[in-house]
Amino acid sequence: MSLARRVSEVSESITLAVSSKAAALRKAGVDVVGFGAGEPDFDTPEFIKDAAVAALAKGQTKYTPTPCFPELEEAISRKFKRENGLDYSPAQVTTGAGGKFCLYLAFQALVEPGDEVIIPAPYWVSYPEQVKLSGGKSVFVRGEESRGFKITPEQLEAAITPKTKVMLINSPSNPAGHAYAPAELKALAEVVGRHPQVWVFSDEIYEKLVYGGMTSVSFATLHPDLFRRTVTFGCHSKSFAMTGWRVGYAGGPKEVIDAMNKLQGQMTSHITSFAQIPAAVALDDARGGESIEGMRKEFEKRGVHMWKRLSELPGVTCVKPQGAFYCFPNVGKHFGKSAGGVKLTDAVSFSSALLEQAHVAVVPGNDSGFETHVRLSFATSMEQIDKGIDRVGEWLGRLS
Ligand SMILES: Cc1ncc(COP(=O)(O)O)c(C=O)c1O
Repeated sequence: MSLARRVSEVSESITLAVSSKAAALRKAGVDVVGFGAGEPDFDTPEFIKDAAVAALAKGQTKYTPTPCFPELEEAISRKFKRENGLDYSPAQVTTGAGGKFCLYLAFQALVEPGDEVIIPAPYWVSYPEQVKLSGGKSVFVRGEESRGFKITPEQLEAAITPKTKVMLINSPSNPAGHAYAPAELKALAEVVGRHPQVWVFSDEIYEKLVYGGMTSVSFATLHPDLFRRTVTFGCHSKSFAMTGWRVGYAGGPKEVIDAMNKLQGQMTSHITSFAQIPAAVALDDARGGESIEGMRKEFEKRGVHMWKRLSELPGVTCVKPQGAFYCFPNVGKHFGKSAGGVKLTDAVSFSSALLEQAHVAVVPGNDSGFETHVRLSFATSMEQIDKGIDRVGEWLGRLS
């Protein structure tokens, strides 16, 4: 069969491969400790679920306008003003099936074949694939572990060429759990400010999940010229534990938002009808903020605990997480050793042997540009964290 070339150009997700292997082991009755999850282990708050039940009861089961009911656009516009200092009118916001689809639409709306997109590494696995689907070329800028995985203004300046169309920034970050301090982001904004052809995609979906007194700030507020060339992304997935609802949103210049809506009109039309009013309620109702803060506090405790335990493991270094719900330890010192007859050569062989032999699921960093690191999610209980890291420690001790 001759499938379209774009299918072979897009990489299969290693993350999914690991989770399906873990699922197969579980199905076979093995007690697997899973650190792979990219989603809160909390349930969606009741008041949001109640709003969905009410939406169904009201018959909100039909097509809606593209991209959504005006009530949701208005709620997103209010949220951006109130919480981010971003004055996007309702016509300057859009929604999509998760932050993921909003990012996809934005790449499709702005990037032409041959355009360069700057992506700081480590990065979320889908960015380069979405860039490929737009015909663009990813230019990776490495955030070194010694600098907490953050890129410097000098590195950014050096990466910008006349072909640069977009600079992507994701803070707090998946997979490394790092977050840029406002002054660090401002220094990057100053660089982009000097290059009028460069757009910014600011993926702020983990904005609420910051630790150790860190504060989140929206990139578009950091330079007078950037509001009109930044698209800001958010979603309900992580903040309101709504990953399965597929609600994401973006704010930006009207021309870009109109383009994204035009594309969406021929693709999915809109997000699920009965998720729309609940999504607006989640943003407007004070209980939304309270539930996020409850999750944030719990994640902070778990993150600090996981980081301490990982840092105590032999041959492992780990940067303290400042945001999201991930630790991203460096396990490269163990490469070259053997585990039960299997040679460990990179994060994939490490993760695969760890899963098979110690029954702990982690995500290899290869797809995020770091072959020496693995991602562990702390969106799981303290008991699971201790149990899993005990197993990792015991397994590392057996390597030869
Ligand atoms: C950095 C980042 N951006 C965007 C997304 C997309 O989130 P969703 O499509 O679930 O809203 C994710 C999901 O894991 C992510 O980690």
